[in-house]
Amino acid sequence: MVVPRLIERKRSGQALRDDEWRELVAGYTAGTVPDYQMSALLMAVMFKGLTHQELAALTGAMLDSGARFTRTAGGAPRVDKHSTGGVGDKTSLILAPLLAACGVAVPMMSGRGLGHTGGTLDKLEAIPGFTTQLSLEAAARQLDDIGVVMLGQTEEIVPADRKLYALRDVTGTVESIPLITASIMSKKLAEALDGLVLDVKVGSGAFIPEPARARELARTMVAVGERAGCRTVALLTAMDRPLGRTAGNALEVREAVEALKGEGRADLLEVTLALGVAMLRLARPAVTAAEAMSTLRDTIASGAALERMAVLVERQGGDPRVLSRPELLPVAPVRRELTAAEQFTMPPLSPRAVGELIVELGGGRRIASDTVNPAVGIEFPVMAGAPVDGDAQWAVIHAQNEAAADHAGRVLRELLDEASRSGGDILPLVMETISAGDLEPPEGA
Ligand code: URA
Repeated sequence: MVVPRLIERKRSGQALRDDEWRELVAGYTAGTVPDYQMSALLMAVMFKGLTHQELAALTGAMLDSGARFTRTAGGAPRVDKHSTGGVGDKTSLILAPLLAACGVAVPMMSGRGLGHTGGTLDKLEAIPGFTTQLSLEAAARQLDDIGVVMLGQTEEIVPADRKLYALRDVTGTVESIPLITASIMSKKLAEALDGLVLDVKVGSGAFIPEPARARELARTMVAVGERAGCRTVALLTAMDRPLGRTAGNALEVREAVEALKGEGRADLLEVTLALGVAMLRLARPAVTAAEAMSTLRDTIASGAALERMAVLVERQGGDPRVLSRPELLPVAPVRRELTAAEQFTMPPLSPRAVGELIVELGGGRRIASDTVNPAVGIEFPVMAGAPVDGDAQWAVIHAQNEAAADHAGRVLRELLDEASRSGGDILPLVMETISAGDLEPPEGA
């Protein structure tokens, strides 16, 4: 392999062969292909894209750079969900135990919050004692035993992505749809799934805000999943305002537990159940959407979903008493309610700005090594589009000290003014579903 020739071919829009992608990825992971050559190649991909065949080859080569979850024959159907990231998105905390209680095996491998978006691992670690650092072997054992495991990406999974993502981050090559697809799908395929549901966020707080590009990403990921033998469905969902009532790690655990008790707010439930229906139908293709919905609702109503959460928390070292006594979760010293003198309609507050405010409060990270304060965050008692009565609370700040609460109050009032002035429409929470039948046949078919 002569790397400069491969870069030149890609730069002029030609496709590289499967074996060339394999050698490139293996060489880069092993350190024989240097960063400067890989950077040039990534930039060529950014401008020229990849064919379906190349994308499958790149994803497969990345997948093969590391270990996978083991899979014994038979057993429960294995399904996971992945989100492109949002603010207030605690759907994973609800879906993992809920689907497990419906007989689906859920190996949920998640990330940490970075920038304005939150991360499932940080939320779980708000539960005293909960560990998300499990070996693949321990995770596979737990999955067999209780049908659910929630863990961080281990060192063994797709090491090529760890290196490539760090390089993309500093070479202006993150926003390439084929590169995002290979990065996400190689990690998800390492879970040896039967089915995968992708929650692709759309709107100002989304990784890719524009609906057309988000749709393209969704279609590309569905195509790669299906081609790799994993049934894949994508939902486009709204991230033009935070999802649900809370943003901030411990607050979101509380809200997720309420949802598992059947007390979830309508916006959170709508997105969670839409994703859950898609997951359940991938596990059991004969089930209709209406049947899947009633199974999910019954599993919450019976207490089985909450019970599975208790088993999960205990198994991963957490204190299961937080499920019945949420005051055992970290609580911020300062609680500040924001009210308005007159009635108004709650506008969609910028999730990006809310996420950045949570980082300022200490609840998120600017750089990967920052530590996170699990207790801080913001509650939004009223859904976007609903009226807020005069004197009623429209936000509640949970801060580490008075000065931080003062600052958050100022920022939130500005955000409210700005959002009220711009008076934009609110996106539908669940905008579109994309599955294999919605794709064009691949080239050469
Ligand atoms: N998340 C990932 O895991 N990879 C990307 O490239 C983008 C988002």
